[in-house]
Amino acid sequence: MDKIILDCDPGHDDAMAILLAVGNPNIDLIGVTTVGGNQSLDKVTYNARAVLEKAQATEIPVHQGCGHPLVRPLEVAADVHGETGLDGVELPEPTRPLDQGHAVNWIIETIMNNEPGTITLVPTGPLTNIAMAVRLEPRIVKRVKEVVLMGGGYHVGNWSAVAEFNIKVDPEAAHVVFNESWPVTMVGLDLTHQALCTPEVQSRIDALGTDVSSFASGLMDFFREAYRNNQDFVDPPVHDPCTVAYLIDRSVMTTRRCPVDVELHGDLTLGMTVADLRGPEPSAEQCHTQVAVALDFDKFWDLIIDAIKRIG
Ligand code: BDR
Ligand code: CA
Repeated sequence: MDKIILDCDPGHDDAMAILLAVGNPNIDLIGVTTVGGNQSLDKVTYNARAVLEKAQATEIPVHQGCGHPLVRPLEVAADVHGETGLDGVELPEPTRPLDQGHAVNWIIETIMNNEPGTITLVPTGPLTNIAMAVRLEPRIVKRVKEVVLMGGGYHVGNWSAVAEFNIKVDPEAAHVVFNESWPVTMVGLDLTHQALCTPEVQSRIDALGTDVSSFASGLMDFFREAYRNNQDFVDPPVHDPCTVAYLIDRSVMTTRRCPVDVELHGDLTLGMTVADLRGPEPSAEQCHTQVAVALDFDKFWDLIIDAIKRIG
């Protein structure tokens, strides 16, 4: 069973990633860490704890990480996620106190104290904590099984014409993460724009008729409106849980191996994930990065709906 650390900034779709990781029996969510992104650090940390409370998963620790990008001021996504970061739903008061210790230290200790090759990092926010961890303890690179992150895009941006939010907010951190030798799967916008919560999907969620299903549906209502108003989408793309779905079942998406680097200097292209798709596809030995290409829509939503159902 995959042991995962979810490093997130909830966020409506981060919340869906938490629900999927909690509800799926093949994922061992050993901890949630938070990073400033969709909203300020204190807000997203509260949200992570509240979502775990809602999912009856208070055994899972939450460690708070970095509130600001490595170099730049924090840009939040209030237009997409509201002032709280999880607007549109009522959150329960978390009963588990926030766990002590900085997320970066906890990530390092957890990786160093577990067998090599057993921990997968799943970042679904800016990559600040992961970059800090790797700089503080470079030995984690060889011990992590893989990094499966939501961010970037090889043909498309959403925070600029060519850059995606998680990468654009902290491009220097993303540069660090993509340039370490660990296996990186970039689940970018090319893939996540296929993960649309259509009305049909949402009515399947509603039909579960549980407290958690109505919570998830409330998240999707707000997300739909936000994407209609700000991003020119009819149905919202539910980005972050695509990472967890891939770890549950690799056949949920196709991937293409290719070098990926992060642009740090372009006036117009800052934070662009530049994927080199020329030539034949390299092998895993030749290239440690790959990008997600095509989603099996039905499989993806079946996994989410099954997880919500199991939470009860
Ligand atoms: C990413 O940005 C955030 O707003 C979402 O939570 C997701 O992680 C999509 O660009
Ligand atoms: Ca996110």
